[in-house]
This record gives sequence, structure tokens and C-alpha cells, in this order.
Amino acid sequence: MRTKYVPILSAIAVLFVFGCNELAMCGEEEMSIKKQAYGKTKDGKNVDLYILTNTNGLKAEIMTYGGIVISLQVPDRDGNFADIVLGCDSLDEYLKGTPYFGALVGRYGNRIAKGKFTLDGVEYTLATNNGPNHLHGGIKGFDKVVWNAEPMQTDQGPALKLTYRSRDGEEGYPGNLSCIVSYTLTNNNELKINYEAETDKATVINLTHHSYFNLGGHNSGDILGHELMLNADHFTPVDKDLIPTGEIKSVKGTPMDFTRPMTIGSRIEQVAGGYDHNYVLNSSDGSLALAASVYEPKTGRVMEIFTTEPGIQFYTGNFLDGSNKGKGAVYNKHNGFCLETQHFPDSPNNPNFPSVVLKPGEKYTQLTVHRFSAR
Ligand code: GLA
Repeated sequence: MRTKYVPILSAIAVLFVFGCNELAMCGEEEMSIKKQAYGKTKDGKNVDLYILTNTNGLKAEIMTYGGIVISLQVPDRDGNFADIVLGCDSLDEYLKGTPYFGALVGRYGNRIAKGKFTLDGVEYTLATNNGPNHLHGGIKGFDKVVWNAEPMQTDQGPALKLTYRSRDGEEGYPGNLSCIVSYTLTNNNELKINYEAETDKATVINLTHHSYFNLGGHNSGDILGHELMLNADHFTPVDKDLIPTGEIKSVKGTPMDFTRPMTIGSRIEQVAGGYDHNYVLNSSDGSLALAASVYEPKTGRVMEIFTTEPGIQFYTGNFLDGSNKGKGAVYNKHNGFCLETQHFPDSPNNPNFPSVVLKPGEKYTQLTVHRFSAR
């Protein structure tokens, strides 16, 4: 009888001797947030990097410049971790410019036609940075500013609270806008992004996040074999400059239909330039609902996206051309995909789209959850 307990007692003894501070030995890691200096911007502002680790060993590296997610390590079906977001090697590379790798996008994600809109009878002119149009907040959008950061240990997991005050007139937008974006790497293996904003003058707002994902690993080639489901029966067709025509069109019988899981590459040749479209989510009452689910068959990694937003921009990295290199990889066309939860592009000029107007006294909120698993 006594010998039965010997292995258990020796295991307990080992734990006492070596301790459980390396909690990985105990099958669980300790959640943590580490901070390190990441460099300086051209105008001398310090940029910090925060490394969030949850109890399952998932890791997110986020910097204060642009609130950019530099890397995101998640396990495959065999428990092997890989970095599943495209990114650069250093702050200098980010400062040279990237196609919004991992960034927070604001004040307005996606395009506003001709950079113009009218609000309360006043016409506003925004910075144009995409041909004649305004894209992703303009020349110096929220992806290119240094955010204030406050690391937090929450009940759900490690979190990073980022704040930024965009002044009245910035990139042409009216109103001083105070923004709070919190990233939480939950112990349920989710990257949760919670946005809040308030203004002192009526304005328009559409915040989003612009990670390029490749669930096979950021350096594993194209994403055409990923299986995608989009919980959207409709999309907003665009003109040649990717400005919505105003129509809300059914996906039925078209290569835009992802209501049932399909590989991204199965019909991409039929979509001029590749996918770069806003889908109208079936759930649009502002509650948190499943918007997308992506599965990578080789590694078994799955990402589900839940959002409170009415739309999601599905973009297949069509403009990646090998000129962006990072983390030992060269990023070519279709090497990553974005699923940007948002209001519809050019909403300020399309009264039939859900409103993006924020008035003083109101609070803008958006919540998006990226849930990771494997099968
Ligand atoms: C979004 C847009 C694309 C492109 C990328 C950035 O996804 O819809 O057209 O501008 O951002 O390159």
C-alpha cells in the first residue's frame, strides 16, 4: 500500500525543491506583461514594446507606435507555436512605412471618397492619401502616432490599455477625440480589442485593427488554402477606386459567397485584383456576434472573429509585392489576409449605411474578439 504513494510523494517533493515559479513545469504558465524600450520616432518620442503572455503560453507583442501588434504566437493542433501575423524586424522598418501591418486604424478605417463629407451642413476636407481618396485616417493616421500605454493584469488575462487624444482638425476631422483601445490576451486564448471614444464636436469615426494573418505562420507562403466562413449574406460593391457604389448586394451565386466555409483561393481568380471588400454582417444589432471563422488545414489553427460592428473588410493582401520583408520572411501577394471589423467604407457619403457620426455626450464603442483554437 505504502509504495503506491511513493511516486506521488516524490513528485510533490520535486515541486518543493524546484518550486513552481517556472509554472510551465506544472502544465500552466504564469500570465505576464513585460515592457521593453523599442526605439524612438523621428521626432524623438520613446516607443515601448509590451509582451503579453497568457496562462497557456500565447504571446502578443504590441508596441505603442500605432498600437501595432508585432507578433502573435498561437499553437497548432500539436501544440507547436508560430507567429501568425506579418510584421517587421525593427521600429525603423515600421517608420519607413508598411501597408498597415498590425496597426490600429483611425479615425476612419477604409476610404472616404475624395476625402470629403458634410456633417450638420458643414463640408469637411480630409487629407487624401490614396489617389483622390482618404484611406485609413489619412497621411498620419492612428497607425502612425505614439499611444500612451498602461499595462494591466485583469481577471481575463494580461491587457494593455492605450490612449490617444486626436486634436480638433487632425487630418481634417472635426472635434477633439479621446480614444481608448484595450488589447486583452485572455486566458481563453482570445485577443480582445475594445475601443472607446468621445468627442467635443460632432465628427465621424470608424476604428479598426489591421493585422495580416497567416494561420500557417507569417512566413509560410500564401493564404489561399485557408478555409473561410463569413457570416454575411451581403456585401458592398465598389468602383475601380474601391469606393462603395452605395449598393448592398447579395453574395448568393457569386465568388463573394463565404456563408459556407470555402478556401480563399477557390474563386479568387474571378474577383478582379483579389478580395478587398466590405461584407455586411448578418448580425448588425450591436451585440457581439460571430463574423468570421478561418481554418488552416495543414496546422489545424482556427481563428474565429466576433464583433459588435456591422461590417468586416476582407482583404487578401493584394498589394503585397515582396517589397515588405520582416521577421526573416518576404511578403508576396496573398501571403496574409486581413479581416477588419468596421462600419462600411465611405459611410459619411452613403446615408443608407449605418451611421458613423459621433456627437458630444455620446460614447463610441466597438468590441472585437479573435478566438484561437486548433482542430
Ligand atoms: C485595406 C484596404 C485595402 C488596402 C489595405 C492596405 O484593407 O481595403 O484596399 O488599402 O487596407 O494596403
